Amino acid sequence: MSNEITIKNVNMVYGEGGGHRELRNPARGTVALKDVNLDIKKGEFISLLGPSGCGKTTLLRIIANLQNQTSGNVEVAGGTPEQARKSRKYGIVFQSPVLQDWRTIRQNVELPLEISHYPKSKRHELSEAMLRLVGLEKFKDVYPNELSGGMQQRVGIARALIMQPEILLMDEPFSALDEFTRDKLQEDLLNIWSRSLCTVVFVTHNIAESVYLSDRVCVMSPRPGRLSAVIDIDLPRPRKLAMRDTVEFVEYVSKVRNSFEGI
Ligand SMILES: Nc1ncnc2c1ncn2[C@@H]1O[C@H](COP(=O)(O)OP(=O)(O)O)[C@@H](O)[C@H]1O
Ligand SMILES: [Mg+2]
Repeated sequence: MSNEITIKNVNMVYGEGGGHRELRNPARGTVALKDVNLDIKKGEFISLLGPSGCGKTTLLRIIANLQNQTSGNVEVAGGTPEQARKSRKYGIVFQSPVLQDWRTIRQNVELPLEISHYPKSKRHELSEAMLRLVGLEKFKDVYPNELSGGMQQRVGIARALIMQPEILLMDEPFSALDEFTRDKLQEDLLNIWSRSLCTVVFVTHNIAESVYLSDRVCVMSPRPGRLSAVIDIDLPRPRKLAMRDTVEFVEYVSKVRNSFEGI
């Protein structure tokens, strides 16, 4: 299978002093990423897992071209991250969906299409399909403040997928939700992913969540932020929530947890 995202020798140092490159002092800066190498395959579901401050968001933002690395090379969808951003090769979902309160759910989901000047009929057709995909077709004409946090996050996912991107980037999308809502959204996300066939890079600090969702879990550790292990999760799909009670699942969770020991 070919690569969707290639990360080669990426380093990120914050606050090294600015000014002329020769004069900067890396010793004064925060090394947010140190020598990160990772190949993500087309169609893969991958998690970046680790405690707060280990550089997960930084790595995701570099992939998304929301910031530039200090050194190293990143390729996204066969080009540079900038090309991928400009040609909307990825959709992105953050912890909070940042919806526009004065627009209905349908209008929020259609926003990327409006920006790209899609005709109204095409916009409606695509938003109907996306709202069906995330289970919100009945709520298309209500406003965001009438929805629960979980439903708002579904709107964020529908908006991220409406341009039919190759890649879905998610930064702790469920961590502000209660456990019940979170469970349901995890299961639904797997259904959405299996139908959309996109590549997912999912940031989380929750071990069980990363095991349940992923083909591979990338374990990251802080000071300096680095990729310390990559663990294959060979659990069968489709995965149902009940799978979390199986011996195999529990064993994967301890394997991932143990990989943090001594780092
Ligand atoms: N804009 C910034 N300026 C300076 N330091 C930053 C900035 N963003 C992140 N950092 C630092 O880089 C490290 C990694 O941060 P981050 O990527 O947000 O980690 P995570 O998402 O895993 O919590 C942390 O030490 C954080 O304080
Ligand atoms: Mg973060």
